[in-house]
Amino acid sequence: MAREKILKHEQWSGGRGFIWAAAGSAVGLGNIWKFPYMAGENGGGAFVLVYLLCIVLIGVPIMLAETMIGRHAQKNPISAFRSMSSALGASPAWGAVGWMGVLTGFLILSFYSVVAGWALAYAWKAASGDFVNLGATQASEQFNSLLSNPWQLLAWHSLFMFLCWLVVARGVRSGIEWVVRWMMPLLLLLLLSLVVYAAWLGEFSKGLGFLLNPQFSDLTRSSVLMALGQAFFTLSLGMGAIMVYGSYLSPRESIGGLTGAIIGVDTVVALMAGMAIFPIVFAIGLEPQAGPGLVFQTLPYVFGQMPAGGLFGFLFFLLIVFAALTSGISLLEPATAYLVESRAWRRGKAAAVLGLVVWLIGIACLLSFNYWSDLYLLGFIQALDGKSIFDLLDGLTSNILLPLGGLGIAIFAGWKMSAAVTADELRLGAAYGLWRFLIRYVSPVLVVLVLLSSLGILRT
Ligand code: PHE
Repeated sequence: MAREKILKHEQWSGGRGFIWAAAGSAVGLGNIWKFPYMAGENGGGAFVLVYLLCIVLIGVPIMLAETMIGRHAQKNPISAFRSMSSALGASPAWGAVGWMGVLTGFLILSFYSVVAGWALAYAWKAASGDFVNLGATQASEQFNSLLSNPWQLLAWHSLFMFLCWLVVARGVRSGIEWVVRWMMPLLLLLLLSLVVYAAWLGEFSKGLGFLLNPQFSDLTRSSVLMALGQAFFTLSLGMGAIMVYGSYLSPRESIGGLTGAIIGVDTVVALMAGMAIFPIVFAIGLEPQAGPGLVFQTLPYVFGQMPAGGLFGFLFFLLIVFAALTSGISLLEPATAYLVESRAWRRGKAAAVLGLVVWLIGIACLLSFNYWSDLYLLGFIQALDGKSIFDLLDGLTSNILLPLGGLGIAIFAGWKMSAAVTADELRLGAAYGLWRFLIRYVSPVLVVLVLLSSLGILRT
């Protein structure tokens, strides 16, 4: 019986497998699509500075905690919280943190897959030469015509969900680890070549200055909030993705070093995406405050004006597809692992049923760009009036559900688990005291502040 359990719970081939998978989860649309436009809208360097502070004070301690809980329990997030709370004599209600994570993962993946679908569509467009000599208005029209066509959106969304299913169904080692092992290094190489391209042909120092010079006057209260939500989203924290990946990690590996590497890669990729995008945006005299359309409206136009723009445009959107896929699979994995380990489902069937649920929510999300664009489900709440289903899914998950999950994880690791167990699991040496201080006091307090402020925003 015990032996069967051990066999069922797979493991990475080693620490590297975990690093690539977790970095693959962290590096995604959040880095390449969200981060640059958020920085563009919130005063560049000032936003980057607050974001980096959030990564250090909240992201690092919570990522250590999430990996540690998963590794210690060697179980999926739902079962991990259940079994650990019963072993610790804590309330079984802690299982709710695991369940909430599963729900959050579904909601994120449903809109994530729609955006990833845009990237698939754009990689295709770039490869078919659609960007050549594209005018600025034509580029906007092209994006709007994609958004207004539900069948096209559905086709690309379905393709992306199918790819996620394909990988997760094959299992931890031969599915997830196999994919991230070649996709992630290739992704880094693609990004590097795009930065070189931008440095060569674009206004590199102007772009870099924009990203690094803090303009504190542009930093508003809501940009601080966005920076906090982005820290959770970009590191995949608060919903169990990192926890389930941690559960496939052998007790021999040192969590501190692995986590440091993952956060380093994620941060460097976000900054590099900015360094690839802003110099070329400035090169043709555009302004970077283009919002969520920055990547899909501005860049195709820019690529259309640049030498070898078709090729580099294709590489750029391929990069986004890789980044999205290696994150999408981590959004599906916690619930799949639960059904496989605790309900004895076959992996392929579990991932298919879960993927189908996500696919259906995704349809509501893609319809909110066309047929349902005037449907404001929560319009009776004043601050949410005018928000489409897509906006709601994005806002609810990043600003409320992920921070709530992170809060649960921080309190569980800092206050419920004993110092002896966490010290032994983390093996951080002299830095352990600092981690424990951050996870008990600093991260939870800051997270509560984010939550309260976002509720404040709901009221105003
Ligand atoms: N970290 C991913 C990104 O930046 C998104 C994500 C969030 C993935 C939560 C898994 C869990 O795009």
